[in-house]
Amino acid sequence: MSSRKKNILKVIILGDSGVGKTSLMQRYVNGKYSQQYKATIGADFLTKEVILEEDEESGNQGAGNFASATAGDSNNVKSNKKTATLQVWDTAGQERFQSLGVAFYRGADCCVLVYDVTNQKSFEHLANWRDEFLLHANISSPETFPFIILGNKIDVDDSKKQVSTRQAQEFARNFSADVASSASDNNSFGVPLFFTSAKGDLNVDAAFQKIAKSALQQN
Ligand code: GTP
Ligand code: MG
Repeated sequence: MSSRKKNILKVIILGDSGVGKTSLMQRYVNGKYSQQYKATIGADFLTKEVILEEDEESGNQGAGNFASATAGDSNNVKSNKKTATLQVWDTAGQERFQSLGVAFYRGADCCVLVYDVTNQKSFEHLANWRDEFLLHANISSPETFPFIILGNKIDVDDSKKQVSTRQAQEFARNFSADVASSASDNNSFGVPLFFTSAKGDLNVDAAFQKIAKSALQQN
């Protein structure tokens, strides 16, 4: 029964310091952006009510997946819209501020891994962030847990970009294959990848919409 499901979807954002985790969150939740860098200390969350729209394009294959989430919304007369509350946890990329215990990761429904397209190292570290998450979150089936990768700062000049689209796509495609111990489940390969800009407000809503849907499926 759907009553078992939580109506809060817990999302954890991880990635190196300065990649734009806080900026993405601020852009998405508050529609704001600041050029000034202020390191996140520890972790904090923001919440946002999300509307999980049905796919209006042909097919509608995914619609059934979200039906259970609306079972309690009996006051939502004749609406196709489905809502959930995203609880987005912003974390510190700087090691000296990472004082969080295991409890912080527990109950996560989706993990967002962010890198900065102008910073190769931040891309290389994605696997470490993933492993860190899996180590602490006590996920029962890591190979199917929803991760999403965001390549942020795509507003910058092409000459400053250090990570190619192809490289990122390759990594995203092989992501779960690295996690899975066997290659038996061919549904589990690849994770969604979005190229975003918190500064230019590019693709941020689309990415979080996907994050919400993925979290809901996990929930
Ligand atoms: P920590 O809290 O230390 O882990 O860093 P963070 O990942 O939260 O980074 P933050 O959001 O604080 O952004 C770091 C710097 O990058 C800030 O100066 C932001 O203004 C800038 N920044 C964030 N997103 C973008 C973006 O999309 N484009 C550009 N050009 N700059 C960005
Ligand atoms: Mg931050």
